[in-house]
Amino acid sequence: MNTMDDVDRIMGVMERAFAPEYGEAWNRRQVADSLILAGTRYCLIGADGLFRIGPDQPAAGFALTRALFDEEELLLFAVLPELRGRGLGAALLGEVIAQARSRGVRRLFLEMRKNNPAGKLYTGFGFRTIGVRPGYYRTASGERLDALSQELLIN
Ligand SMILES: CC(C)(COP(=O)(O)OP(=O)(O)OC[C@H]1O[C@@H](n2cnc3c(N)ncnc32)[C@H](O)[C@@H]1OP(=O)(O)O)[C@@H](O)C(=O)NCCC(=O)NCCS
Repeated sequence: MNTMDDVDRIMGVMERAFAPEYGEAWNRRQVADSLILAGTRYCLIGADGLFRIGPDQPAAGFALTRALFDEEELLLFAVLPELRGRGLGAALLGEVIAQARSRGVRRLFLEMRKNNPAGKLYTGFGFRTIGVRPGYYRTASGERLDALSQELLIN
């Protein structure tokens, strides 16, 4: 019996991928509610690097995006800690970009914490910083971190 749905798969990664320090992870309700909204899409990747997940197979990573007109925002993007550094994140981001391009999206947008190691990955795909919000994020210990707005023009 297929007991695992895609919200379970997303939450399986979410609950382990984000450091609690930054309070970035969404809860199950937030994910389920977001998927009801028009324009919200997700992409899953398995540990084998394939985007097709078997009935009882968990996801190794996911990306969640929201499109508005010809723009799309990368809301969340994560890979399980023990499966990082194998190219799954790059494959997932490449797929998000390819899918957005095929739908005619003109601009992909994301916001990240300054110094997030994921920035290296984004830069590699051609994202560039278009804005800084000083002290936008506040960590659990009260530290303030800048938010960087990044964009990739794709069509
Ligand atoms: C960002 C993330 C999805 C990347 O996944 P991944 O599967 O490790 O990505 P890849 O294996 O394709 O790595 C791509 C490149 O980014 C670098 N990189 C990615 N994550 C890194 C990390 N946490 N620490 C150091 N380098 C990292 C890798 O060095 C690699 O570059 P290289 O191939 O030149 O060495 C993963 O680190 C993650 O889930 N992080 C926590 C959640 C997060 O911060 N998400 C982004 C903001 S929403």
